[in-house]
Amino acid sequence: MEKETFYISTPIYYPSDKLHIGHTYCTVAADTMARYKRMRGYDVMFLTGTDEHGMKIEEKAKAAGVSPKQFVDDIICGDGGILDLWKLMNISYDRFIRTTDDYHEESIQYIFRTLYEKGDIYKGIYKGLYCTPCESFWTESQLSDGKCPDCGREVKYAEEEAYFFRQSKYADRIKELISGYLDPQSRVNEMMNNFLLPGLEDICVSRTTFSWGVPVDFDPGHVVYVWVDALSNYITALGYGNGKYNDFDKYWPCDVHFVGKEIVRLHSILWIAMLMALDLPLPKRVYGHGWLLFDGDKMSKSKGNVKDPVILAERYGVDALRFFLLREFTFGSDGNFTNELLISRINADLANDLGNLVSRTVAMVDKYFDGALPPDRLAGSEDDDIIGVASSLFGAYESHMERFAFQQALAEVFKVTSRANKYIDETAPWALAKDESNRSRLATVLYNLLETIRICVVLLRPFMPDSCAEIFKQIGAQGELTEFESVRSFGALPECCSVMKGDIVFPRLDLAKELEALAKGEG
Ligand code: ME8
Repeated sequence: MEKETFYISTPIYYPSDKLHIGHTYCTVAADTMARYKRMRGYDVMFLTGTDEHGMKIEEKAKAAGVSPKQFVDDIICGDGGILDLWKLMNISYDRFIRTTDDYHEESIQYIFRTLYEKGDIYKGIYKGLYCTPCESFWTESQLSDGKCPDCGREVKYAEEEAYFFRQSKYADRIKELISGYLDPQSRVNEMMNNFLLPGLEDICVSRTTFSWGVPVDFDPGHVVYVWVDALSNYITALGYGNGKYNDFDKYWPCDVHFVGKEIVRLHSILWIAMLMALDLPLPKRVYGHGWLLFDGDKMSKSKGNVKDPVILAERYGVDALRFFLLREFTFGSDGNFTNELLISRINADLANDLGNLVSRTVAMVDKYFDGALPPDRLAGSEDDDIIGVASSLFGAYESHMERFAFQQALAEVFKVTSRANKYIDETAPWALAKDESNRSRLATVLYNLLETIRICVVLLRPFMPDSCAEIFKQIGAQGELTEFESVRSFGALPECCSVMKGDIVFPRLDLAKELEALAKGEG
């Protein structure tokens, strides 16, 4: 039987500078979802990439004294560039699209021409207020305090002959459908009140003031507006309008586009109108995630308050950082990133709760049974509760994961690790070990612990793939015992399982020392 497909995308990021922890946040979330769906048996297409055209990049390249292509190549493929960052962060994308790829440019020309021939793109004169950093034209009514509503910067009057996209034609259908594809619902209200109810205008989709873009093939001198170019990546990467790939029918419509809240408008209105104009199915979901704030401000390259994911991953481990991002913050809301939260979360959940549970349990199996449990069992009154919570964990986890509620899914898992630590105190294995006649009871307690750990770690796999592999090694779980199918009920671990003592997976950090080191900028 053919596997069901799951197509997930991140925004394609601007290679105007190094990427920071904000980009890493969205990409780690998408990676976790992709891994989760693969483990559930889906045929996954996980797409990410780079959005390389536009005036901003052209200007930056000029300032750096290199061609725009050379400039973006360095940022993407150079040492410590975007590809290296995703490798470090263990991002398992299936495809990486660059908007400078030939096949993509070919598709953009095809899309632009098709819409022009259909009459959904037409030629006119643009007069308006332009925000250079955002490459967006705004109407007076859209400005906030006279400034760009997206970034808050100055706009200036600009006039040019240009092509327009008949976005207004699709306004009614978008209004009708938006609550069905956009999440969280608060974003729907935002779009309705700020853009759809006041009325959608046609949008300018070509530029003549610079040349770093995809040329309009039937009107030289015009380049395609960078957002039409960028949004189309989600279909060109599957082969729409080009011969490079042939997966469009297989994966489209997309299951979910993960995007930051500042680009929800472009994904839930412009992109949807473009798809309607092309007579293509709409994405099943656009999810607008919140921002990581830093001292209450949006982390951004231009403001300089950027956290470097490489420094944090190298100091604390890739998995600890991946985990922290999804455990600490609610995906749909903003969250304040502080070094203290990072260290405290690693200590509380990974070192104390999970790490401690694993090392104590493995050490006891090693000490009391030479590393391998005997088959004799004796149940006790303490067992029912832990077996109950561990058996029902998958159901709770799954319902949160399906809604992209990573934080809540993880909270469920950590409730069970805490419960297991409490079970150790309740059963006091060290006391049981003193009397030979308690051996079957002791073996049962340790088995229940190993099995509970295994269930939790299977569910943590999409979040922390490498650390989970290490824990599986220590508790002697492999193959099917690391898969979701094996955690729907308690007891898949063989009776006579054996452990292998290993390194501490998540060492405890000294909060004061770490804060000082991070403040000094030490990696
Ligand atoms: O907007 N907190 O690219 P971009 C959370 N090229 N997420 C953040 C963040 C923060 N502080 N900062 C950035 C573009 N992000 C376009 C996209 S898509 C067709 C074109 C994440 O490099 C978040 O997902 O500015 C945001 O939407 C994205 O990076 C913007 O990246």
